[in-house]
Amino acid sequence: MGMKYDFDKIIDRTGTHAMSLEGYEDYLFGETEGLDIKYPPEDMIRMWVADMEFETSVAIVNSLRQRIDHGIFGYTQRKGAAYISAFAQWTKERYDWSLNTDHLVSAKGVIPVLYKLINYTCKPHGSVLITTPSYAFFKHAADYNKVPLIKSDLINNRGHYTMDYEDIAYKIAHHNVSLFILCHPHNPTGRVWMEDELKKLTDLCLENDVFIIADEIHCDIVRNGVRFRPLASLYPDSDKIITCMAPSKTFNLAGFMFANVVIPNNTLRERWNSDHLPIENPLSLTAAHAAYAAGHDWLHQMNLYLDKNFVFASDYLKVHLPQAIHSIPAATYLMWIDLSAYFQKEENLTLFFANKAGVLLEGGDMFVDNADGFIRLNLACPRSKVEEGLKRICAAINAKSS
Ligand SMILES: Cc1ncc(COP(=O)(O)O)c(C=O)c1O
Repeated sequence: MGMKYDFDKIIDRTGTHAMSLEGYEDYLFGETEGLDIKYPPEDMIRMWVADMEFETSVAIVNSLRQRIDHGIFGYTQRKGAAYISAFAQWTKERYDWSLNTDHLVSAKGVIPVLYKLINYTCKPHGSVLITTPSYAFFKHAADYNKVPLIKSDLINNRGHYTMDYEDIAYKIAHHNVSLFILCHPHNPTGRVWMEDELKKLTDLCLENDVFIIADEIHCDIVRNGVRFRPLASLYPDSDKIITCMAPSKTFNLAGFMFANVVIPNNTLRERWNSDHLPIENPLSLTAAHAAYAAGHDWLHQMNLYLDKNFVFASDYLKVHLPQAIHSIPAATYLMWIDLSAYFQKEENLTLFFANKAGVLLEGGDMFVDNADGFIRLNLACPRSKVEEGLKRICAAINAKSS
């Protein structure tokens, strides 16, 4: 029996500068016209940015309290054995991955890794290959570096997504691809790629001298019984696979801006280390350490709660939006729903649901390509919020079509 945590608790985030509350206008709507939300801010249901409405583990909060009470917050490094061995033990116990801790580097989140590593790995005139739909920062990172972005559409078979290996092989051969960015598990579809899928993809990349960044930031959040395999664990001798993991999504610590990056290639790692001072925010390091050392039970309970949120949402949609195509994803707290039966291709779904339902969510156009008519819902919130969000989404669609 694990400890009991209260994931049903509604927590007011007002006054905490939460991006979820204060950042949505810029992030979701930018220059878009027509924003006219009829709900007061406190009544909006926020299912967009990928953080949680849950309190993190009490073990983490207690470690932070202790660390704060110490009162000294000077320059701090992660290279001491304690943190590194906690993270290495986490990956060994959960994923049977014995990572080489000499290859671990310090990063202020995964996004900065994408921005820098594209620059390091792309040869002159080289390009970056991603699959779509995609987490938008894969594109932003390529654009920032002025590196061509090559896209391969995932194949959608009634909500089950697979990679198009023939297309990937063709694009690697014809577009001078230097780097493939793999999202594993996949945001937004929630796929956990199976070993044979990973091998097909990786063999194509390695045969053609293509680096892979495996963005595994969502890997700890899986449905009960799902097994996740880090890509690098399947290729222990390759130095072309860079792994990104973090406690940020897993433990709702994204504001601490802290990620673990494993760079086996010596040249790339030395370059990274010469570009970045190995200095941490002491509270970030404390939280990450406590997460890996004492977070298993909280994570287990949180994942079980999410499992139930997904069952609830799936059952609800089957009854109230019978033409919505969705499945319970193997991983992530994100639900990817095909609403194309209800909307014209060009409808801005982010705007529609903000205005008509007071629900903040991300529509397909926020996922680079191959996602018209989809919405992504963040289900890492109390069930009562999931229920209210779904109710409003369904009511808004049903009002439109009646
Ligand atoms: C696939 C993926 N990578 C990276 C990030 C962000 O990483 P970080 O906050 O560590 O920069 C997210 C956040 O949503 C994500 O979904």
